[in-house]
Amino acid sequence: MTTHTEERAAELRAALADTLEAGGQLTDPTWREVFETVPRHPFVPEFWTLSDGGQRPVSAACPDWLDLVYADDALATQMTDGVATSSSTAPGLMAAMLQALDVADGNRVLEVATGTGYNAALLSKRLGSDQVVTVEVDPELARLAKSRLGRAGFTPIVVTGDGRDGYPAGAPYDRLIATCGFSRIPAVWLEQVRSAGMIVCPLGWGTVCLVVSDHGRAEGHFLPSRSYFMTAREAGTTGTPAHPGRPRPTSGRLTGLDLATVAEDDEFRFVLSLVAPETAFASERDANGHVTAVELWAVDGSWARSEDGTVRQAGPRLLWDAVEAAHELYAEKGRPGRERFGVTVTAKAQRIWLDAPSCPVPCVWS
Ligand SMILES: C[S@@+](CC[C@H](N)C(=O)[O-])C[C@H]1O[C@@H](n2cnc3c(N)ncnc32)[C@H](O)[C@@H]1O
Repeated sequence: MTTHTEERAAELRAALADTLEAGGQLTDPTWREVFETVPRHPFVPEFWTLSDGGQRPVSAACPDWLDLVYADDALATQMTDGVATSSSTAPGLMAAMLQALDVADGNRVLEVATGTGYNAALLSKRLGSDQVVTVEVDPELARLAKSRLGRAGFTPIVVTGDGRDGYPAGAPYDRLIATCGFSRIPAVWLEQVRSAGMIVCPLGWGTVCLVVSDHGRAEGHFLPSRSYFMTAREAGTTGTPAHPGRPRPTSGRLTGLDLATVAEDDEFRFVLSLVAPETAFASERDANGHVTAVELWAVDGSWARSEDGTVRQAGPRLLWDAVEAAHELYAEKGRPGRERFGVTVTAKAQRIWLDAPSCPVPCVWS
């Protein structure tokens, strides 16, 4: 990198930190200094920008490379069968999650989902490389991240493995942060994070912040930030449930649920992601941009399609019934914001609740 690139990158980092501070995402001065110091560009020499509606490939040779790197956007860094399977998370969301993690000097942290290594670099800067372990399921991504971290002067332990298993050899941890999506908090994490330690993890379309207590239990609320993370996967897969194909037409029934609400109301979609986990979703629009059909499908082959006021469903679970039940709850409770929802996790079960653990939210399956 030329001196000019480094100087320009430093200016852009300071400007981004200003923007995030003004937007309320980066309020902690210690983390602000970390974001201002650690460069993002060595971790994303090539990516696909998602910000302009397409998936334009960008490399360090492109004139707008640095501007895109230091915008508050996610950058896709691996595509598999047209699906983004690795990315550098938007810095504003990273800042919100890192601050929620509430680290203190001397804390030992497990990061699940190394991706580019940028978040591991931020953690290493804040706590020291010796205090950070990061796990990535894709061996090539882990190799690249380790090498880029090394060149940037950071040496956390980079493990190739399935973060759903945590990394017992490095336990106990004071903090665990995950940056790929989950529908269930892995029970083994509760054994690897010490009592009074914290877990910050994307769950459904939100991010939950849990405090671990004695006896293998963790509990906490969702953060107010919107979050959409790529699903935790096995190496070599995309993590997206395969579309079952159009099942044989089943007889339909009428539905009064507005398709635009299901397709466009992010807060409702968040509730839906908790009530009907592991369910993929697509919508169709007419030339005017109005939603004309919504389709859902799940890992177990369940499928639903709603259009023209009629829904057809097939498979072991009635997905549209779940959508309607979630909407009933959402409307009845006055469209609650995501920070009113919370989760209790034990080795055996995970319960979603609204406002208090004593007010459980029914899920279609657990
Ligand atoms: C959003 S990216 C992580 C961003 C990363 N923290 C960074 O700073 O660049 C999600 C990553 O999760 C990884 N991943 C998916 N499933 C995983 C699993 N089961 N265990 C560990 N990593 C996983 C993906 O390969 C991908 O690299």
